[in-house]
Amino acid sequence: KPMRLWGGRFEGGPADALTRLSVSVQFDWRLAPYDLLASRAHARVLHRAGLLTEEELGRMIGALDDLERACKAGEFRPTVADEDVHTALERGLLERLGTLGGKLRAGRSRNDQVATDLRLYLRDHVRTIVSRLVELETALMSQAEAHASTAAPGMTHLQHAQPVSFGHQLLAHVHPLTRDIDRLRDWDRRAAISPLGSGALAGSSLPLDPQAVATELGFDSAAPNSMDAVADRDFAAEFLFCAAMVGVHLSRLGEEIVLWASQEFRWIEMDDAYSTGSSIMPQKKNPDVAELARGKSGRLIGALMTMLTTLKGLPLTYNRDLQEDKEPVFDAVDTLLLVLPAVSGLVSTMRVNTAKLEASAPDGFALATDLAELLVRKGVPFRDAHEAVGHLVVWCQVNDKDLGDLTDDELAKVSPHFTPDVRDVLNVAGALAARKAHGGTAPDRVRDQLAALREIADVQ
Ligand code: ARG
Repeated sequence: KPMRLWGGRFEGGPADALTRLSVSVQFDWRLAPYDLLASRAHARVLHRAGLLTEEELGRMIGALDDLERACKAGEFRPTVADEDVHTALERGLLERLGTLGGKLRAGRSRNDQVATDLRLYLRDHVRTIVSRLVELETALMSQAEAHASTAAPGMTHLQHAQPVSFGHQLLAHVHPLTRDIDRLRDWDRRAAISPLGSGALAGSSLPLDPQAVATELGFDSAAPNSMDAVADRDFAAEFLFCAAMVGVHLSRLGEEIVLWASQEFRWIEMDDAYSTGSSIMPQKKNPDVAELARGKSGRLIGALMTMLTTLKGLPLTYNRDLQEDKEPVFDAVDTLLLVLPAVSGLVSTMRVNTAKLEASAPDGFALATDLAELLVRKGVPFRDAHEAVGHLVVWCQVNDKDLGDLTDDELAKVSPHFTPDVRDVLNVAGALAARKAHGGTAPDRVRDQLAALREIADVQ
């Protein structure tokens, strides 16, 4: 007969269809280590309340330790008959302790237990996710350091706009990650609230000490409202937003890498270890890592939508709908822990085609703005300068020339403003170096930026 935590007032057993619908142990079993942590804290608080003797507490902790060992060793496994992780672990406890095992459930409910377990699980895994994010930052920063003064075509609308330092562009992918980490750290502050002691919804008539339990479990404090505590899944939704935002950032980096690796760009070459082949075309080398990073952002965004939709309109307090909180959270954690190391590897091993970048940096008349700004420095209103350079660009296009190829006469013919010295600004290195204000793409500023980012990553 399957063990249930709620058999007393029922005459017949549950229908198979109900059991199959209700069971969550196939996915919530990964909460077992956290459930055991919370159980140990709960045993101690029952002891301090005079509800377990010293000797009973000793046996209880011993059994919980042994159960943890058995779970780790794979000796203790949940069965399909265990409704959820809490039921399975109670079975394990009863197998070890007999009737004494039945005392641990006093003063708590699966409602406060599951909310506590999920917070413990997420706070733990967010720390790992943050480390993986720092690794990706580090990979991007090493490439940025090597390419601080490599000129590259900077783009808007995917059209050549102005030359930039390739390192600057790589660091532009680091800043979003620093914000992600910052968000996750800030998330932890709000997640650090313990629901344990809230019971099913109303707290307990037993003399428990939720604040002490909270401290023992590494939370900052116990929840101030037992009803909110068992109903609240803000921490799950907020985590999923952070995860979806990381996904969006990885998808944008992924898309750029797909472009960079294409024949048309040839900005980078991916290492064999991080690229894939084709089953039919022998020559192919495909950017699947970058594409999966781009593609998997979809499921991260989906997980957030699942969570918010589940919560919308739920009355207080606990409702079984809340069991739907776990799979999106677990899937988001798994997805990030899969994608991040692969993207870090791809970035740290890619070879940057410096010659190709440098050669195409001025393409598409990308120095036109420099020319217009030179005229401004000579007192020409920007409106007129913009117009004159525009004419020059058209002239070049019609005559199949580059800005740098023009003779003194050709320059003068388009506008009297174009004296021979304008050629001084028509070089890419000068254009980068000139953008030397804070936040600009001058290689010296890029190096300052890198130093500042390294300091941030060190404390992250
Ligand atoms: N498995 C449930 C969940 O994930 C916890 C159990 C609470 N169940 C209940 N019937 N009160 O939310």
